[in-house]
Amino acid sequence: MKVAVIGTGHVGLVTCVTFANIGHDVVGTDVDSEKIELLTRGVSPFFEPGLEDAIKTETSSGRLSFTLDAAGALAEAEVVFICVGTPARADGEANLVAMEQTASQIALHAHDDVVVVEKSTVPAGTADRVRTTLQREGKGLRFHMASNPEFLREGMAIHDALEPDRIVVGVESARGLEVLRRLYAPLLEAGAPLIVTDIRTAELAKHASNAFLALKISFANALARVCEHAGADVTMVADIMGADPRIGRAFLNAGLGYGGYCFPKDVAALKHLSERFGYPFPLLSEVERLNEEAVEAVAAKLREALWNLEGKRIALLGLAFKPDTDDVRFSPALSLARLLLASGAQVVGCDPRAAGAAKDELPELELANDVYEASTGAHALVIGTEWPEFRGLELSHLHELMTYPLIVDGRNLLDPADLVGSGFWYYPTGRPPVIPETSRPEGGSDDESRRAPAPRQPTPLR
Ligand code: UGA
Repeated sequence: MKVAVIGTGHVGLVTCVTFANIGHDVVGTDVDSEKIELLTRGVSPFFEPGLEDAIKTETSSGRLSFTLDAAGALAEAEVVFICVGTPARADGEANLVAMEQTASQIALHAHDDVVVVEKSTVPAGTADRVRTTLQREGKGLRFHMASNPEFLREGMAIHDALEPDRIVVGVESARGLEVLRRLYAPLLEAGAPLIVTDIRTAELAKHASNAFLALKISFANALARVCEHAGADVTMVADIMGADPRIGRAFLNAGLGYGGYCFPKDVAALKHLSERFGYPFPLLSEVERLNEEAVEAVAAKLREALWNLEGKRIALLGLAFKPDTDDVRFSPALSLARLLLASGAQVVGCDPRAAGAAKDELPELELANDVYEASTGAHALVIGTEWPEFRGLELSHLHELMTYPLIVDGRNLLDPADLVGSGFWYYPTGRPPVIPETSRPEGGSDDESRRAPAPRQPTPLR
């Protein structure tokens, strides 16, 4: 089938390579000429595992091409996927200007019986707006509206697209459903479950899914605060809760909280949408508040341990919003860096992929090439993103390099058992800390000034 994809961001590009991979003829378009130039040379504009190889494979097979000429791409297409950005405005409302502009373009250039599919994450009711624009500007164009939300995780996007746990299609005509079934036939035959519904339900289900995942994370973070007072271990609590299939273990990892381009934006957009309907959905405001509190809790631990943050050097391991991506948008690690910098600390960050992007976003941040360079002279080391690379830290080497042997694990990446006897003061999130038996660790320095001041022990709740 001939497919046009408007917008070559994360969602659009993965959509392009997925449909090309399953045998369709795909043209990706974008208004960004630099991006199109990179893509035509087979270069991905951002890091996503497997994406660049997939772009190269599919463009050389002839099934995928990229163009600035949206009119040409639309004139040929049986199906058009709208994958443009829907960023948050200052008040949380989704900015749908790009959606409207795309609808106008489709109205001008698409041919009759085209199926117009919304893939961008949008508030329920957006397809109605797109439909109205197509009717007003399409000069009698016959078209079929549909919604087909994506559930791709950055870092796993190709896998999630080719082996989806559900394909959701919101349709309003038999033709719309028939075309989408045909388009997804190879994945459906391979066993992907298809859920057919109306368009507004499909739109809302996407926001609801992301908001619920964010809620699970905030629940785990609130529990972490309680566990720290009660002397319990939040990771075990989550394991025990998660053993119940009605709850599930996923997304109950306490830490610095959620970030990235999707969760913060989608929680805010769902909240805004419900407020517009006269239902304020206060639970979502609490999810957001707890997410901010998660970052503040790590900053508070550092303040407690280091007394004054002014002039203290803090090594921040991990800057991306999660591992396996170079994306720092709404990264909790960067939110923490901002708090620490505002308190007068010197923050030295390192990240396997996101260092450059982090520096662009936060120029005051210093960068180091690796963990050991970042930790040299540091008064504390903080784990901000759980990159697997940070798991095997050489603790004795770090102990020699750091000014104070203090680790605050904002992602519960390290195994507390490995820290016992290391001479480090180790503060995980929602788990009991590991404190050296004596303040003069075996093989450590005799210099009392290097002893890490221990944060005050939380008072157990009675
Ligand atoms: C998320 C959803 O998982 C996808 O299903 C969805 O399609 C996508 O948004 C989207 O709307 O496009 P993504 O933003 O790539 O995907 O990232 P996640 O893997 O969901 O992680 C989001 C954030 O939550 C990260 O900052 C991560 O560190 C944090 N997180 C995740 C936790 O703090 N704890 C957890 O237990 C899980």
